[in-house]
Amino acid sequence: MLKDSFGRIHDYLRISLLDKCNFRCLYCLPHSPHNKNGFQSKHESSLMTADEIERFADSFVKLGVKKIRLTGGEPLIRKDAKEIILRLSKFPVELTLTTNGSQIDEFIDTFQEAGIKSVNVSLDSLEAATFHKLTGRNEFEKVFGNIHLLLDKQFHVKVNVVVMNGINETDIRGFIEWTKNAPVHIRFIEFMPFPGNHWQPDKLITYKEILESIGDHYPEIEKLNDGVHDTAKKFRVKGHAGTFAVISTMSEPFCGGCNRMRLTADGKMRNCLFSKIETDLLTSLRAGNDITPLIVECLFGKHYMLGGHNEQQWATSHSESKERTMLAIGG
Ligand code: 5AD
Ligand code: SF4
Repeated sequence: MLKDSFGRIHDYLRISLLDKCNFRCLYCLPHSPHNKNGFQSKHESSLMTADEIERFADSFVKLGVKKIRLTGGEPLIRKDAKEIILRLSKFPVELTLTTNGSQIDEFIDTFQEAGIKSVNVSLDSLEAATFHKLTGRNEFEKVFGNIHLLLDKQFHVKVNVVVMNGINETDIRGFIEWTKNAPVHIRFIEFMPFPGNHWQPDKLITYKEILESIGDHYPEIEKLNDGVHDTAKKFRVKGHAGTFAVISTMSEPFCGGCNRMRLTADGKMRNCLFSKIETDLLTSLRAGNDITPLIVECLFGKHYMLGGHNEQQWATSHSESKERTMLAIGG
């Protein structure tokens, strides 16, 4: 069993398969004049192979991991994504993934074969034009259709919506309306700062503000139970088939019940999304060493909150002190 120095059991591993994406989301990718593609991807040889991913998963499962989530960039554009999913499905864990939804139709059979029950899809607007502006891709219909495909096939579907002031806050109501008849689980996420993603305090719409704006139109909102490890505060509009939740990373961080660890696509372990340091597991694995002591040590160095960032300055600071972009950490 993996415990950090605060006694928190860590049994959830997020593995990034690739630090590349076929979308160009404004809030995710750094945009700079020197970097026209928006980001620099790792050299292929520094990526974990399917074999190495399986070996890492084996080590973590032996240490008590019960849930594995595949992330990216976009995990499903990795060429051997199907093979990796099927290999990981052999472990006694809940296997799941977070995707931008653009490739789901190609993977639906693999998901079923792998016993995947729940999928998180990012969709930040219900307007095709806003979607295009936000992602740099004209693929609203494709992603929306793929979400419905998942629902038709009885998957539990969570839709991640990053809410940004002046960009998509007017979409909130449409998302709630969607939950009326569709058993879809919307998760409004507070916009978080990462290097180069144009985060500004005034673009942040907080948990309270999101809830108030929903309450203006839907007076009958019921609170649902949240699990100890949940990052989302869950609600339902009375009578609606689906639910909604808010992930308040900025205004009300929820680090106390954290059980998650991350592995980047180049095999570095991060004990927190906002960690300032990481542990190179891949080099050690390739050198033939036992990686278990490194995993234990990395987790033991975990801060109680926000990777050691100052909580007081958290939601107001302009500083971009985190070294990796969201794309390279995998959310
Ligand atoms: N703030 C909040 N959420 C983000 N995501 C990506 N970048 C940010 C950000 N800056 C979310 C996306 C995606 C998940 C992987 O992370 O919604 O669903
Ligand atoms: Fe790709 Fe997701 Fe980042 Fe958008 S948020 S660019 S879909 S990884």
